[in-house]
Amino acid sequence: MTSKLVPLISEADIARALQTLAKEIDQDYDGKPLVVVTVLKGAFIFAADLIRKITTPISRVELIRLSSYGSGTNSSGQVKIFSDLAPEAIIRQHVLLVEDIVDTGRSTATAIALLKQHHPASVKLCSLLDKPARRIVPVEIDYLGFTIEDHFAIGYGLDWDERYRELSGIYAVEEE
Ligand code: IMP
Ligand code: MG
Repeated sequence: MTSKLVPLISEADIARALQTLAKEIDQDYDGKPLVVVTVLKGAFIFAADLIRKITTPISRVELIRLSSYGSGTNSSGQVKIFSDLAPEAIIRQHVLLVEDIVDTGRSTATAIALLKQHHPASVKLCSLLDKPARRIVPVEIDYLGFTIEDHFAIGYGLDWDERYRELSGIYAVEEE
């Protein structure tokens, strides 16, 4: 079986979504400093672009790594956390968690639970993509770029077996 990449979301669409998201975030936080927690690896490009559009002061950037996918396109169901988050980075802070995609919801729910252990003033979620058809664990997305159908999406940070993260747009992998 061969696979092809079908364009899903263009670079220009992403740029527009970044403007809209940054505006919403700036309005809501109203100048209150923000801790941005980026979920690696998938959200690294999105977060890098987003924090440069936000004008709200960012008091720190933290990176956590979650891993749930094996090498295929289906989640293993297990979420591994790799994090050296210091509790002092989160306690009494307004935290914005930045995700690439909410699929089953397991990873994001795990990340939010981890952050809440450190007693933040607030935790909100910003996700580039939402794939609601696959949700198993409910997750509330405060700031969302795009809702997609049940496609496997790659590009703009998202990978398929570690490939394609460097693409500027987002594509669906289709088997043919
Ligand atoms: P979860 O199933 O919501 O826990 O998603 C876990 C992680 O799997 C996401 O943060 C992504 O890194 C990855 N993932 C889920 N769906 C896709 C996809 O369509 N393309 C690429 N990665 C995905
Ligand atoms: Mg992810």
